[in-house]
Amino acid sequence: MITTMWIVDKNVDKNKDYPQIKKAAQLLHDGHTIAFPTETVYGLGADATSDQAVSGIFKAKGRPSDNPLIVHIYSTNQLSELVQYVDNTSQALIEQFWPGPLTLIFTKKQGVFSDKVTAGLDTVGIRMPDHPVALALMEACQKPIAAPSANRSGKPSPTSAAHVYYDLNGRIAGIVDGGETGVGVESTVLDCTVTPPMILRPGGISYEQLTDCIGPVDVDPSLEEHAGQPRSPGMKYTHYAPVAPLYVTKGSDLWLQETIVAFQQDGKKVGLLAPVETISHMQADFLVACGREDDLSTTAHSLYESIRAFDNEAVDIILAQSVEMRGIGVAIMNRLVKAAGHKWLIENNDKTSF
Ligand code: TXA
Ligand code: MG
Repeated sequence: MITTMWIVDKNVDKNKDYPQIKKAAQLLHDGHTIAFPTETVYGLGADATSDQAVSGIFKAKGRPSDNPLIVHIYSTNQLSELVQYVDNTSQALIEQFWPGPLTLIFTKKQGVFSDKVTAGLDTVGIRMPDHPVALALMEACQKPIAAPSANRSGKPSPTSAAHVYYDLNGRIAGIVDGGETGVGVESTVLDCTVTPPMILRPGGISYEQLTDCIGPVDVDPSLEEHAGQPRSPGMKYTHYAPVAPLYVTKGSDLWLQETIVAFQQDGKKVGLLAPVETISHMQADFLVACGREDDLSTTAHSLYESIRAFDNEAVDIILAQSVEMRGIGVAIMNRLVKAAGHKWLIENNDKTSF
């Protein structure tokens, strides 16, 4: 398959015609898979109402089919055709956070979506992305669009068109290149069909932002380390992983430097991923400064690009420094721990994995 790349300005003007967007929307409408930018990560889109179109997503990504997909919309007017009802809590969240990085779980209307989108569940995850290109594309296409992240299954999510091209060139019909994404980690998935609502995946909208808006919110207990089967089917797979084994570290800078040296004395080339404040006084074989500790949104923005950077280097092991579990730090830690396959190195703790 030939993969076409269309370059468009991120700030498309709603009132202008863009031949690239028209062409991509036509292909989407006709059942092809098209990657496009959102404010979180690039998505791989297909018509959510067509079995054949949605199959193309799973084939291109190599994604397990028991993992349901998020449906993307450009207008809240579409909701009445897609879900049975919008409860008051969801309505308040929509008013505050859409368009934006929040996916809400609704009871789906029967007979609308391909079963492949919802993996046989009675519910569907829906979000409205805060990206002018995504919104223009969907408006031109006039279909609800199923879109997981546009990476090969198991790899870090793509935050630029180059990442999508690297993973999926030849496997999809096209890529709409609208530049780098902003938030850098995926949307928060929140289930409002239960009381209180439950976070199934931490993401771009923080726990604190949600509770400020709607009061008490639960967190899926399986998101804690040591826990059992996740409720959000996608959370059980190893994700976001670089080629070399990655360990999440927790300890003093002195201990971290000694740990790096110990691996090097063992003949290993060591990569280190940490905020710039730490990187600036550390030594390793390959250093990646990922954002700033005093503004974790910068770390989220660069996280996947930083993890991917190690794949071009001959490192044997990657150490990634943990960040504080507040605000977007919760989503960053969730992705790091998954990239590590739950392997930790902790100061004064002889366990290397949980
Ligand atoms: O930011 C994002 O959300 C990106 C961009 C492209 O929009 N999309 C994304 O989609 O991350 P995906 O398919 O990679 O992640 C979907 C997540 C999975 O964890 C899946 O299990 C969960 O949402 N999910 C989807 N539908 C669900 C449902 N009905 N019930 C529970 N979890 C659901
Ligand atoms: Mg994904």
